[in-house]
Amino acid sequence: MSLDIAALRQQFPILQRQVDGKPLVYLDNAATTQKPQAVLDAIMEFYTTCNANVHRGAHKLSDEATRLYEDARSTVALFVNANSREEVIWTSGTTEAINLVANGLGQLLNPGDEVVVTEMEHHANLVTWQQACKRGGATLKVAPIKESGELDFEAYCTLLNKNTRFVAFPHVSNALGTVNPIAQMTGKAKAVDALVLVDGAQGIAHGDVDVQAIGCDFYAFSGHKVFAPTGVGALWGKASVLADWPVWLVGGEMISDVTYQDASWGALPNRLEAGTPNIAGAIGLAAALNWFSGLDKVAVQTHEKALLASAHEQAAAFEGLRVIGTAPDKIGVMSFLLEGAHPADVGFILDRQGVAIRTGDNCAQPLMKRLGIPGTARASFSIYNTLDEVDALFAALKKAQMMLA
Ligand code: ALA
Repeated sequence: MSLDIAALRQQFPILQRQVDGKPLVYLDNAATTQKPQAVLDAIMEFYTTCNANVHRGAHKLSDEATRLYEDARSTVALFVNANSREEVIWTSGTTEAINLVANGLGQLLNPGDEVVVTEMEHHANLVTWQQACKRGGATLKVAPIKESGELDFEAYCTLLNKNTRFVAFPHVSNALGTVNPIAQMTGKAKAVDALVLVDGAQGIAHGDVDVQAIGCDFYAFSGHKVFAPTGVGALWGKASVLADWPVWLVGGEMISDVTYQDASWGALPNRLEAGTPNIAGAIGLAAALNWFSGLDKVAVQTHEKALLASAHEQAAAFEGLRVIGTAPDKIGVMSFLLEGAHPADVGFILDRQGVAIRTGDNCAQPLMKRLGIPGTARASFSIYNTLDEVDALFAALKKAQMMLA
């Protein structure tokens, strides 16, 4: 079955708009995805029919809001193939999810302990562990990548030993598009009894996520990368690990008993969810996952591969354009440099033609330094992009090249 892209695009109101009189060509999907009508409707429906706080009210609206909110948790659990819905912790996004784990872990780390990350980390999955190691006196080790942007798997394995307490890596690199062999990486980390977190920010919208098959302990993702609103995301964690995980945020909802002198924590999932949550966000996220699950997964992946293949093919024929990140297994992202042009200028000229991309360090400064570049221009694709839009990107790049020559 193939995707009816024209019909799919009709479901995204924003894709119908123009930018300075030009049709919008939205190629900044790794930064955030656009939202289908089904998600917009779910949020509007919540606010117009049963907005109330959850778990607290003695009234009908609160009951209805609580049911929708908890059903949304079940939707996430199903989407990632969790063992139980209690394994899903709501967060504001990937960054908060990783902080929740790292700040908890920071309380368990001691001198002599080691944490392993990779050279391709987004700041959210680097600075968190770097700071946790500093607090605990532990050592941060960084697994190298090859020039292509592929993980050096052998080198990664040599960093793992009996002192490795924790390993964290991205499912898909936001800057390079590299898809990591996360199940194998997890298997190697498990062989030394380390806990494993997968940063799923870029992985969640590009294929099957099955946390049981991966074998990791934590998988973190943001709703807005998968057609849901900003400000909501989830941490999936194994119940056996989360049940005793040191709490980070404290406050309402997460407690069991409180006195002026002390407090005890509630059960999962609430023990890791202090304060009033993003209720509408959770409902919007569930609507997005339900919408996304309704698409043929093989057709989605085939289409995304075709977009990237066309981009790479046109890049190879484009004199003066260098692709940054050429790992054999890639999805969704083409970072590049135009010879003699600053990425910011390229982004500006493309924008004048309606083509939206990202430019800069991609929230991965150490990776840019490792590659010896100041940053990149980055086009990132989603299911609603078309091959014509890939052509539009290259036509716009031709103009940019002429203007910047
Ligand atoms: N992490 C997001 C990106 O890669 C914002 O653009």
